[in-house]
Amino acid sequence: MVEEREAEERTLRVAKIREGTVIDHITAGYALIVLRILGITGREGHTVSVAMNVPSGKLGKKDIVKIEGRELSREEVDRIALVAPRATINIIRDYQVVEKHRVKLPEVIKNIIRCLNPACITNSREPIEPMFYVISEEPLKLKCHYCGRIMERQDVLTSLFEEQ
Ligand code: CTP
Ligand code: ZN
Repeated sequence: MVEEREAEERTLRVAKIREGTVIDHITAGYALIVLRILGITGREGHTVSVAMNVPSGKLGKKDIVKIEGRELSREEVDRIALVAPRATINIIRDYQVVEKHRVKLPEVIKNIIRCLNPACITNSREPIEPMFYVISEEPLKLKCHYCGRIMERQDVLTSLFEEQ
């Protein structure tokens, strides 16, 4: 609606971008963990804007991440559904949204989270990349390919927040 659009523009916190990717409707407070999942450190040179706890009609509050000059692929981005299942990915070209989709958890998650079973082979000295099957999205349940350990959302967050 026009009124909503005007209200949004009055309260716009981060400028529109010309080219790149906008990740919108991120669970409030999770923008930094989303950047971590995407492997964006800030040292790649792209202009990255982060807005946290922005008022949002649908969710109450949300985070937004804007990455200029880089179009993230679906495969890269879908993994953020681990912490931000309602996020939308907007690809921007010449200031226009040319693609928009909701993130969707992939069936298999590789590398980004560590199995919390200390006896798991992925925690030994063997160079084995962690791999999990998504067996339930809500509530989140991942199963380790190697030891069968079930990881729930809190375990996933514990793993993501560990020092790397
Ligand atoms: N956006 C941007 N730069 C642009 C175009 C859009 O940063 N050149 C941002 C908007 O600020 C918004 C997101 O990309 O955060 C999606 O834009 P748009 O589809 O225009 O907004 P909505 O219709 O509100 O999106 P939705 O329906 O997904 O909430
Ligand atoms: Zn394991």
